[in-house]
Amino acid sequence: MSISDQKFYDKVAKKFGGYKSEAIHENHFPSGDPEEIFLEQLFKYSDKVKTVLDIGCADGRFTLKVAEKFHKIFAIDISSEMLAKAKQFQEEQKISNVNFQKAEAEKLPFQDKYFDLIYSRRGPSPYIEISRVIKSSGYYLEICIGEKDGKELKKVFGRGQGFGEWDISVAKTKTNSLEAEGFKIVFVHDYFYSEIYPDMENLNLFLQSVPIFKDFDQGKDKENLRSYSEKFSIPNGIELKRHRIVIVAEKL
Ligand SMILES: C[S@@+](CC[C@H](N)C(=O)[O-])C[C@H]1O[C@@H](n2cnc3c(N)ncnc32)[C@H](O)[C@@H]1O
Repeated sequence: MSISDQKFYDKVAKKFGGYKSEAIHENHFPSGDPEEIFLEQLFKYSDKVKTVLDIGCADGRFTLKVAEKFHKIFAIDISSEMLAKAKQFQEEQKISNVNFQKAEAEKLPFQDKYFDLIYSRRGPSPYIEISRVIKSSGYYLEICIGEKDGKELKKVFGRGQGFGEWDISVAKTKTNSLEAEGFKIVFVHDYFYSEIYPDMENLNLFLQSVPIFKDFDQGKDKENLRSYSEKFSIPNGIELKRHRIVIVAEKL
C-alpha cells in the first residue's frame, strides 16, 4: 500500500477518534452478517495457547475485543494515528496480552513460522509474507471487500476502490493466490447485503470515514452524492449495496 493510504487512515483517526464514524445506518443481511460469520470462524480456531497476528489492526478495537480468546496478539498497522488510539483503548481496558506496533504488512518484523493464527479484517493481505510467518497447520482468516461492493455508488461517482472490476471475482483471485502459497482453503463465502442511510448527511459522513473514495470531498462530490441519493432512495432511506468475502485457509 502507498503513503496515501497511510495519510488517509491518519486523517480518519484524527477526525473520528479511530476507525469509525458517527453515521447512522441500518443493515439488511439476506444471507447472514459477514462480520458475525468472521467472528464465529475466528472463535472456532481460537485457543488460549495461540500466538496471533492481526494485520492492519487500525484503532485496535476489534483486536482488544478478541484478545481474551488467545495467548498473545501482535497487531500491526502503518498508521501512527490509528496505533495511538489503539494504545489509548488498550490502557483504558487494561488488556496486557496485545502488542500494538508500527510495521508494514509486506515486511513483517517477525521470524519464519512464528504465528499459530493470522487474520486480516479488511486490512492488507500480502500472502507471501503471511505464508512466511505462519506455522505449518496454522490458520489464516480474512474478511475483505468484494468486487461488487458499492458498485452503483462508484458508477455514479465515476471512480472508487476497485472501480470497473465488477466481474473479476475477488474470492477466486484470493483463494488461487493462497493455494499458490501453500494454503488449503477451508471456507470461502461471498456475502451481499444492504446498508440503509436515513438521509444524505449520514451517507456523506460515512463516505468521509472509509476508503471507498480516498479523495472524497463533500464540496466537490455534492452533486454526485445528490444524484446517487435520488437514484437509490427507498422508503426508509438511501440504499448502499455492499459485498464482503470471508476466507479461512490452513497452511499445509
Ligand atoms: C480498513 S482498515 C482495517 C480495520 C481493522 N482491521 C478493524 O478491524 O477495524 C485498514 C487498516 O490497514 C492499515 N494498512 C494499510 N496498508 C497497510 C500496510 N501496508 N501495512 C500495515 N498496515 C496497513 C491502515 O492503516 C488501516 O488502519
